[in-house]
Amino acid sequence: MKKIIPPFLLVLLTLGCAALRQEETDQEFSRSLGLVPRPSLLRAPEPGAGPAVFRSGAKLAIAIESEDPVDRRTAQLLRLELASSTGLELAPGHRGETAATSRIVLRRVADRALAAEAYRLEVARDEIVIEARESAGLFYGTRTLLQLMPTVAEGLEQREIVIPCLAIEDEPRFPWRGMLLDCGRHFMDKDFVKRTIDLLAYHKMNRLHWHLTEDQGWRIEIEKYPRLTEIGAFRHYADGSTYGGFYSREDIKEVVAYAKERFVTVVPEIEMPGHSLAALAAYPEFSCTGGPFEVATQWGVHKDVYCAGKDATFRFLEDVLIEVMELFPSTYIHIGGDECPKDRWQACAYCQDRIRAEGLADEQELQSLFIKRIERFLASHGRRLIGWDEILEGGLPPAATVQSWRGMEGAIAAARSGHDAIVSPTSHAYFDYDIATTDLRRVFHFEPVPGELRADEARHILGGECNMWTERAPQETIDSKVFPRILAMAEVLWSPRVATEDKEARFRDSFRPRLRRHYARLDQLGVAYGPEAKPLNLHLRFDESRPALEVTMEAGEEGLVLRYTTDGSAPSSRSPVYETAIYLEESTILQAQAFRAGKPYGAPERRDFLRHRAQARTPKLETAYSPRYPAGGDLALVDGLLGSDDYRDGAWQGFEGSDFEATIDLGASTPLRRISTRFLQNVSVWIFLPNRVEIEVSADGRDFATLATFHNLTTNRSGTIEAREFAAELDGRNARYVRIRAEGVKVCPPWHTGAGGPCWTFIDEIVID
Ligand code: ACM
Ligand code: ZN
Repeated sequence: MKKIIPPFLLVLLTLGCAALRQEETDQEFSRSLGLVPRPSLLRAPEPGAGPAVFRSGAKLAIAIESEDPVDRRTAQLLRLELASSTGLELAPGHRGETAATSRIVLRRVADRALAAEAYRLEVARDEIVIEARESAGLFYGTRTLLQLMPTVAEGLEQREIVIPCLAIEDEPRFPWRGMLLDCGRHFMDKDFVKRTIDLLAYHKMNRLHWHLTEDQGWRIEIEKYPRLTEIGAFRHYADGSTYGGFYSREDIKEVVAYAKERFVTVVPEIEMPGHSLAALAAYPEFSCTGGPFEVATQWGVHKDVYCAGKDATFRFLEDVLIEVMELFPSTYIHIGGDECPKDRWQACAYCQDRIRAEGLADEQELQSLFIKRIERFLASHGRRLIGWDEILEGGLPPAATVQSWRGMEGAIAAARSGHDAIVSPTSHAYFDYDIATTDLRRVFHFEPVPGELRADEARHILGGECNMWTERAPQETIDSKVFPRILAMAEVLWSPRVATEDKEARFRDSFRPRLRRHYARLDQLGVAYGPEAKPLNLHLRFDESRPALEVTMEAGEEGLVLRYTTDGSAPSSRSPVYETAIYLEESTILQAQAFRAGKPYGAPERRDFLRHRAQARTPKLETAYSPRYPAGGDLALVDGLLGSDDYRDGAWQGFEGSDFEATIDLGASTPLRRISTRFLQNVSVWIFLPNRVEIEVSADGRDFATLATFHNLTTNRSGTIEAREFAAELDGRNARYVRIRAEGVKVCPPWHTGAGGPCWTFIDEIVID
């Protein structure tokens, strides 16, 4: 391992300036080792005195200096892992063994300077020593050691391990370092869950937040209520297909035991009072209306929830929790508490009776009462409750821990009122979000402790989680969403705090170079990681002077080749390479794809460009578009770019809670053949087709003749996404002005989750031929 030390640093080193030496090792040595997460302190060997490496020889022994069976198990695990990953012969290591056998020593030490999960690791020429005060620390030392092992790609076939000498002192910044895995929306098989636990431990994460119940599936066997899995674990689609699965009690015991050996606590989440339709499909008597219900096949928030008025509901939930506590030793039990619509409670005699009897102000306080009652039950069994930040509404139970997801406000409120909090805000920690929204850099820049908190309040931030929700992520896609982003999260939660102003430099000069090295390990572990950032960014601008559509492309990472086509074919490794701006003068289907090492990398991009007469004729809008969906601004509706099915593709212009009216002046009376426009419907994100659309023309801009009117644009409740075209044929009739008027839905209808709130009208494009 070559190491270059600038002369001025050598001087400082000999002066024994530990802080600067640490800086230097981070910049040079640390990059070459590529440890993720970054250890607190890493020292390279003092320069001079020959090649400073540990050589294993063909035979390597593991010596465990602890009688604790937990530590002996850690040693056994390391032995198995090293044997399978290195192919070396691994002997049990005894003191006094011949010098021909190299040794790894695992040692428990009564050193109060070492925190619970802290460890020291020293790689010397003759042996490797891991020391810790507690078992968890010893285990984390072995995780670091595993990362130091050469990978197959790095010449491991020589049947000898060579590791540079070094010293590490390390401990976590936060005690709670987790990942949520949603097995409700998509079922993940048991072995996949165990593999997830291995990968968490490998990166020093210690909580698997196992989301086990959802509207779309109940995944945990409960002996007292067999229909929860007989019925609740399977959803039936209109086409006759069925999707589902669940974990038996034995499966769960196996997963929990597996996790325990890897110092991962499995925290079960049993959702209540909302997200409970699968349970209610099995036992409708615990709802307000009595059902019947079916296990949901649509994503989103469902209105049928547990009835908070019936005592039977609580007896049922307590029975379920008894079995959950039998299976999960975790002190913390997550009970959800998020996204619970109050519609059914408002109309339910039982719920309203309870509100009156308890003297509650409203349904919000009823939810609070619900959660408090469950907390008392858990506490009476020595357990603690965690809930999503909605449990703050209507009053927090006395000892509850809040998981903040709608930003950091929940964590701030919790900490200020003396409650613990776990942070996993949508802004940085939602790994179901597209890489274009939440890329690696963004996750790395996450700071779990809000600046608003005083030091005594900040203590309440236990740590954080990344949340892998799976509405759009079946098992085979999880790797590509979780990796590499979880590596940034692992570093945020484990490694020492980096000041905000230094974070970008740390990302660029330390984290990313270490990741380059780390990918070889992920390859060896068979992790199908996704991109670090959106691989390909298309920038499109209508250039009025030419006139043509100017297309520029930008790679999201180094080392990518961008290729494109304009003939409708999918880009391949033989398509033209993008070098400089391209100009499209005619209607074109542009497709582009990033390639890494000759292979497609990330999703292809497609833009449909349409040359037409309204191009660059700025529409006059009666109501301004929303600054949240400008689609590039004033020319968006006439830039020739057609919106896709994705409302966030930058082509759709959004109008919130208003009607739409746009007038286009063609500059002179012009013979026209066809006028068309398109509106989008995606009710799951509050976007509705208008109630009515009119297409009109005029010669003078004052008197308009109506060419076509479209009424009764059925609002499709099923959630199908549709871009619908509205067109009028003109047969060469002359006109100078074209006007499109649309009466928006404006307010979400009563059946919608957002009932009563403003909704959206999305339009693109106005095409005039
Ligand atoms: C959540 O994402 N509903 C916690
Ligand atoms: Zn009720």
